[in-house]
Order: sequence, then C-alpha cells, then structure tokens
Amino acid sequence: MAQLPDGERIREVRIDALAYGGDYNPDQWSEDVWREDIRLMLDAGVNMVSLPIFSWPQLEPEPGVYDWGWLDRILELLHEAGIRIDLATATATPPSWLLRAHPEMAPWDADGHRLEFGSRQTYCPSSPIWRENVARMTRAIAERYGDHPGLAMWHISNEYGDHVSRCWCPESARHFRRWLQERYGDLDGLNEAWGVNVWGQRYTSWDHIETPKKAPGPVNPTKLLDFERFSSDAMLELFQVEIDVLREVTPDIAVTTNFMSMFRDLDYWRFAEREDVVTDDAYPDPMDPTSHVGAALNYGLMRSLKGGRPWLLLESSASATSWRDINVPKAPGKIRVESLQAVAHGSDAVMFFQWRQAKYGQEKFHSSMLGHRGERSRSFRETRALGRELRLLEPVRGSRVRSRVALVVDWDSWWGSSASESLPSQRLQWAPQARAWHRALATLGHPVDAVRAGGAAAGTPFDGYDVVVAPNLYILEQPQADALRAFVERGGTLVVGPFSGVVDATEKVHDGGAPGPLRDLLGVEVDEQWPIADGRTESLSYGDDVLEVPSWSEWLEADGGVEIRGSYASGELAGLPAITRRTAGSGSAWYVSAMLSPEGLVTVFRDVLRTAGLPARDEVSVQAEAVTRSDDTTDYTFLLNHAADPVTFRLPVAGLDLLSGSETGDTVTLDAYGVAVVATPRAAQVPFLTLTPTARPIQAAPSKELA
Ligand code: GLA
Repeated sequence: MAQLPDGERIREVRIDALAYGGDYNPDQWSEDVWREDIRLMLDAGVNMVSLPIFSWPQLEPEPGVYDWGWLDRILELLHEAGIRIDLATATATPPSWLLRAHPEMAPWDADGHRLEFGSRQTYCPSSPIWRENVARMTRAIAERYGDHPGLAMWHISNEYGDHVSRCWCPESARHFRRWLQERYGDLDGLNEAWGVNVWGQRYTSWDHIETPKKAPGPVNPTKLLDFERFSSDAMLELFQVEIDVLREVTPDIAVTTNFMSMFRDLDYWRFAEREDVVTDDAYPDPMDPTSHVGAALNYGLMRSLKGGRPWLLLESSASATSWRDINVPKAPGKIRVESLQAVAHGSDAVMFFQWRQAKYGQEKFHSSMLGHRGERSRSFRETRALGRELRLLEPVRGSRVRSRVALVVDWDSWWGSSASESLPSQRLQWAPQARAWHRALATLGHPVDAVRAGGAAAGTPFDGYDVVVAPNLYILEQPQADALRAFVERGGTLVVGPFSGVVDATEKVHDGGAPGPLRDLLGVEVDEQWPIADGRTESLSYGDDVLEVPSWSEWLEADGGVEIRGSYASGELAGLPAITRRTAGSGSAWYVSAMLSPEGLVTVFRDVLRTAGLPARDEVSVQAEAVTRSDDTTDYTFLLNHAADPVTFRLPVAGLDLLSGSETGDTVTLDAYGVAVVATPRAAQVPFLTLTPTARPIQAAPSKELA
C-alpha cells in the first residue's frame, strides 16, 4: 500500500485489470432480467459495476426495517461471474419517510424556498439528522458487505453537489456561523476580514449573520467567498462522516466519491486528500466537436489530484445524455476514442452510466451500454467491441502520464472571480480563462497537468515541470508567491495571466495593487484594470503579429530590464506593455496582461514553449492528440483522432501498436475517430509528436463544457 503525503496509507482498488462496466440498477428490473444482464456483461467484457447508488428506499423501506435479500442475490450472481463490485453506500438520496419525518433536513435555495421531494439529493449537507442517518446506513451496509469477496471499493454517496451544492436554510446558517467562528475567532476578526465599514455592515452578534440570501444590492464579496468555502467544506464534512465509518468497519477497503470533472462548487484538492482513489464522471458534449479538449483538462486535473496516480473514469455516456437541452448521440467510433482518451490521460477504467437503458423515469432517454434494443443496439455493439479491445491495453495499467507543463487550478481564485457582482468585468472569469489557456497548450501538442496554487507547500511540487501557467490567480498570498518564485529561480518558466495577485485571502487589495506579491518576480505593476466594452476589440503587437484583445486589458508599467514581448497597439493603452518576460535565477517569469483570442494564445504559448526549450507544433490541430503514459521500461503513446477526417502523426521512433498488434513505421495515419497505442522503450524525454499538415481546424460549438 502506498502512503499519502501525511503518512496516511492508500488502499488499492481490488481489481486486477483495467476496470470496464458501469452503473447498474438491478432494482429497476425483475430478477429474470438479471441473468440476462450477467450473460451480456460477460459478453461485453464487463468486469466491474457500481451499485446500489440510489437504492436506500429499496434497502430500508421503513425506518429500521431492512430488505437486503435482493442485494444479497445480485451481488452473489455478479461475484460468481467474476464481476467486481464498486459498492455504493446508498446515501446519494434520502427515502421519503426520512424527509417527511424531518422536513427541516430539506435544502433551501437562495430565495429561501424549501426544495421538495421527488427528484434526488433532497438534503441539506449540514443537517445533523441527515448526517446521523447517513452514518447509520453506511454502517449497516459496511457491516453487511464489508467481507464480501466481490467488493472492489466503496462508492460514497454520488456526485456530491450535482443538484444541491449550496444550502441557505436555517441549519446551514448556524453551521456557517460556527465555521466563521473557527476561521476568525471573534466578531472583530470577522468584521475586519469582511471589511464591514463599507456600506455599514458591522455585525454586533454572531446571530445576525445569515447565509447570503438575496439582499437589496450587491452582497459583501468576502461574505460570498466565505460562503463558497464554507459550502465546499460542509460537503467535505459530510464525506468525512462516511469515511470515518468505513475506515472503522473496513480499514483495508479503498474509498472514493465520484467527481464531476472540473466542478466549480467543490474544492476537489481537499476531497481527494481524504480518499484512496480519484474517480470521475465525464460527459463531453457530442454537439461540440472540440469538447475533448475540455475533457483533456478535466482529466489532467483528475490524475493530478493524487500526485499522478491512475484514476478511474467511473461514468461516461455510451451515446446521448438526457439532461441537456439537446441530447445529440455520439457518432460511430466516438465512444471508443473518447473512452480511450480517458485511458490515455491516466484512467485505469472505462465505465458508463449505465449498464442497461432505463425503461421509465427521468433517465429513460439516456443512452446506456445496453440500449432499448438490447443486444442489437448500436451502443451495445460498440461497447462490446471496446470491452474486448481494452484487454489489449492491460500493459498500460498503473503507468503514469508524463507531462512537462502544468496549469494552476485554484478554487479560491475561481470562486473569487465568479461569486461577486462587484468586479471590474464579468467577462474575465477563472474557468473560461483556464480553458482557453489550456486549449492553446493542448493544440500545440502538450498534455497539461494541474497543480495546486501552494505548490510544494500544498503537497504538489511544481518542480517536475518545465512550464507552469497560472491563467488567473486573483487571490494570492505571499507563501504561494514564494513557491512560484522558487520554481522560477530553479529554472522553471512561469506564465501569469491577467487579474492575478490582486487580493489576499480576505479579498483585500494588495498594497500597491496587482500583481501584489508577484510584483518583484514579474517586474510589472498594474495601474488600472482596463476591461474592454462589448462589441469592441483592441489589439496588441507581438513580434510581427498583431493579436486581438477581445475583452480585457490592463494599464501596465514595467521595470527597466524587463523584456517587453508585446505592446498594446490600439485604444487608450496603445504603446504600453502588454506581455512581459523577466528572468530570475535560472528561469523566467512572464506576465500576460490581456485576454487573447484562441489564435493569439497559440502565438504567445508557442513562443513561451520554445523560449523555455520545449517543442511546440507548427501544425496546430484540435483534432489530433498524443499523450504518453510510462512505466519504468516502456512509453505507451496514445494517438487519438477526434474527428472524421484522417490525420497523420510523425513518430520520433517506430513501435508496436498494442491495438492492431502491428509494428508502426515512422508515421501513423488514423482514420475517422481512430486510435493507436504505440509502445516504445522508455525515452529520457517524453515523446513529442508532430503532424503532417493535413489537419483542418475545427470550430468549437457553444457548449456547457466551455462555460
Ligand atoms: C450523473 C449521475 C448519474 C446519472 C448521470 C447521467 O453522472 O451520477 O446518476 O444521472 O449523471 O448522465
């Protein structure tokens, strides 16, 4: 068993293969369907299923009266068939009797309305009654099945925060006050932190503090930020309630909760610290032909949350979802390339929501491995083929993605730049900015890891990387800046984006303004943030190029000795520096003061990468992706074609394609949605793949993924 940084051991998931399967809801079907399920699961190569996620009412139909019989029987059938069990604690949603007995445990929205039973997740994360019952149910399941030989790991709750991530009820208000007392000690501390002299908001009693419901005007930004932090922590406490029970009853079984990719509302760095394995649910939108680029960033985060260890793709869709306005199915071949993309990025599993397509209820139109036409459904044919193919990739299990570039993911800055109405512009926000920067790096040929803002201090060193980018580090404290400085001085390249180093953790503007604690390292000062009106676009000159500046610029002044790489070329700021670079120690620190168009970002990051001595593609392609997972002896380079047009990669060395079983030449051409996984002896430097210039640019469609 491996050790976590704090000495806590990591329990391994009990499965000896890449996991393949999905959510399984046998309680929606009669038992004669179960045998058919098992037969078809084996045919499809399924070796793990997740259940009984939403089955509390079926397991405890009345308070204290359990019905384990059906679960005993299906677990036995699965085990006999050699299918491992990702066993849920069944606490994703409360039974109606619990909610009716304790209406106070229902969540409230920001307008003070209590949310009604009839969907799922009808609970307030802070509710003591809910927590007590969750602990009770978890214990009951753990005691009954903790020794089951088919048990692979515990699946705690389900997608925390999917429907209710914030609650404004009276219980949450009491909990918020306790959280604030712990953070600030006394009321003076809170008043000081929240800057209450503005607009006369001084508090004279803890009881006067409410959850931030609708107020006459903009709410105090630090209160909003603290409510985001508190709400994430409240859910984390709920997670810990179950972890404590499971650690006590089954100390050797791995625990996880399934994440929702790059999800704003929960600080996944802190959640991942508590669990043994990171698991993720990924639903790239088939309507957006570039959604795999967003997925690559999500997966970069997933593998980084536990320092590069393999994670598990626990849910994805075999074709269409049913929760978007328009649920477009996946083109033939897309299931394969999207699933293998997750494996390329470090997943040791491909799992779907769900095994058998529902006959009724909210998700009956959601695709599944086994569609409504059963064995004859296209999704079954494609997932069966994928399940068989996955066995060929067994050698990659346990190997790790090697990446030379990392992007700082910081929930505080994300919340700070999106919770408040009182900002210079709503057009610059953490997530779209991070996605845009990642996209440029990805299309230049680099898989990107995520790093925590605190660097080594937070347990995630920057040192394994050549380039670290911080697209929008709005909230920054001195120790975080020190960690970035140390990275640069030891030879790293740091790129800091606009509106960074602006405020401290209580949202107080740093003395002298932005970039605050990074001022010396970057050698620049921001005099004024200068957002650009809708409908206008400014420009900056960058070498021989003119780059568009669509929404955000800054009045920037640079110290002598700082290299000006780009200057504003239009508008009020014409002639002022826009993009700078300063060397420090044996590295360099860049500041990019503007939001740039996708093309502009590619120009700048190509320059950044090459100046740092890293390769960057000449032929920018959204469709062609290459990612390398390595073990001690072998590099496994995944080549992925995310479009219907063929694409050709140039390989640094020829190797064996694990999927086709044949030797490659020094180029590999992939047809529509094609994939190759080329095994070569481990090279000192991560293989970098260029393309022959056949790839056509793909335009992004508006998508939730890009929001
Ligand atoms: C989430 C949930 C599942 C299901 C899927 C549908 O991932 O965890 O229960 O609702 O969405 O896409």
